[in-house]
Amino acid sequence: AADPRLQAISDAIRVVPHFPKPGIMFNDITPLLLRPSVFKDAVDMFVERYRGMGIAAVAGIEARGFIFGPAIALAIGAKFIPLRKPKKLPGEVISETYILEYGTDCLEMHVGATEPGERVVVVDDLVATGGTLSAAIKLLGEYHVILSSI
Ligand code: PRP
Repeated sequence: AADPRLQAISDAIRVVPHFPKPGIMFNDITPLLLRPSVFKDAVDMFVERYRGMGIAAVAGIEARGFIFGPAIALAIGAKFIPLRKPKKLPGEVISETYILEYGTDCLEMHVGATEPGERVVVVDDLVATGGTLSAAIKLLGEYHVILSSI
C-alpha cells in the first residue's frame, strides 16, 4: 500500500499553468513549506529511506534542493554539498554544462567536497527533462550516487 503521507504531500504542491512561460506547468512546493507537518513528512520519508545506509553526503541542487537537502543531511548524519549555479562558489570548482529548453545552464561543485567511494544522495524538488539531474550525476561522476524521489 502507498504511504499514507503521500496524499497530503501531493495535495500541498500547487500546479501553476503557464509559469514561468507559456506551456510550462510549474510545480510550486512553497505551499508545502507553509505546512510544517507536511514539510516534515516529506523530509522524514527520505530520512527513513537513507538512514543507516552509510550515506556520506547529501548534494542539494540550487535552489530548491537547498530547502530539502540540509534537513535530510542533518537527520542522517551526512555532510551537505551545494551544487550551485555558475560563479557562486569561491573555491576551485568542477563544472557541468547542460542543455535547457532554450540555451544552457551550468552546475558547479567545490573540488574536494566529496571523495571517491563515498555514497552521495542528490536532492532536488523535481525532475522535468532530467537535464539538471544528469548534470549533477556527471559532477559526482566518479562517486557513488543514489537517485531518489518521493
Ligand atoms: C527547476 C527544478 C529542477 C529543474 C528540473 O529548477 O528545481 O532543478 O528545474 O528541470 P529539468 O529536469 O528539466 O532539468 P530551475 O531551473 O527553475 O532553477 P532554480 O531552482 O534555480 O529556480
